[in-house]
Amino acid sequence: EKGGYDTFMEKEIFDQPHAVGDTLLGRTDEAGHLVLDELRISEEQLKNVDRITVVACGTAAYAGMVAKYAIEHWTRIPVEVSLAHEFRYSDPIVNERSLVVSISQSGETMDTLMAVKHARELGALTISVCNTHGSTIPRESDAVLYTHAGPEIAVASTKAFLAQITACYVLGLYLSQLRGGTFADDAQAVMKELHEVPAKIEELLGTMGRVQEIARFMADTRSVLFLGRNVGFPIAMEGALKLKELAYIHAEGFAAGELKHGPIALIEPGQPVFVVVPGPDTPHELHKKVVSNIQEIRARGARTIVIAQEGDEDVVPFADEVIRVPRTSPLLQPLLTVVPLQMFALHLSTAKGLDVDQPRNLAKSVTVE
Ligand code: M6R
Repeated sequence: EKGGYDTFMEKEIFDQPHAVGDTLLGRTDEAGHLVLDELRISEEQLKNVDRITVVACGTAAYAGMVAKYAIEHWTRIPVEVSLAHEFRYSDPIVNERSLVVSISQSGETMDTLMAVKHARELGALTISVCNTHGSTIPRESDAVLYTHAGPEIAVASTKAFLAQITACYVLGLYLSQLRGGTFADDAQAVMKELHEVPAKIEELLGTMGRVQEIARFMADTRSVLFLGRNVGFPIAMEGALKLKELAYIHAEGFAAGELKHGPIALIEPGQPVFVVVPGPDTPHELHKKVVSNIQEIRARGARTIVIAQEGDEDVVPFADEVIRVPRTSPLLQPLLTVVPLQMFALHLSTAKGLDVDQPRNLAKSVTVE
């Protein structure tokens, strides 16, 4: 059942082109317009939404953080991301005009379920982005948008994460189309580009040999840092979470802009730092800013492992290692940049002789608060 792979996690990483492709399937008409009749929420109700709150935990919450950048850009609706357990025990600003989107692979995470119930009590419209048919969270929500990643067995979430990001993009583009804002016309173009992503993931998966070698050399490492900006920031945090879960290594993800506000003090000679570099066409000169962040940490002795787009030569002078990802537009990059980080955690766990699919102290679905 592992399909020839040593672990479920590895199999699931290699399933990712399908997870993204299948999640896109059947969500557009022949003309390329988004069609989400499955939501069974009236267009009026959705047009009425003036804020979105995403509730989720762990990796699913990072998918929500990625989605925030995209949905705000496409719809101009403010999006907030709340860890479900924090949302539940706070006094959130949520009412009849709020859309609360929960994200959960299992559909059984108690913290997320409680957050959804809380949101409904407050009168919000609730949509569940979920991978498991017939599970509790979709049942307790007004509507569901299923991710089609297929069953995820490994405790560490990989393909569900990519499918969650994809489903949130579909939702964001649908809302943008519905509201007819400035970006509505772009929705079809973005969908077209999204459809090209599975082949790019496939291509990327064929080039992970060097990542495996790097992981092997790092089996004794005690701490790894991850940096990113914009959609690369949640990816940095996801890279760190994967490493904690799978290799029991202290790891932290930062927004690269925060470096000078504290974390740069951690940099000492030999400290490994992964940097997720936005493509050179990213707005606000973010590419340039991240390149200078790499330069700053390198000057202090960091060992820089840089994830950059094909053809990006600016990073080369400051990188100890460059891992290349295929080109795509800035908001879609997380679907590619996270893959080497998943692979790194998988191979480091293997190099340390640990149980990849069943890390200590963790359960696949957390059904208690
Ligand atoms: O089933 P869910 O998506 O609700 O689970 C949420 C988290 O518990 C989950 O993503 C967890 O962080 C994973 N072990 C991450 O790899």
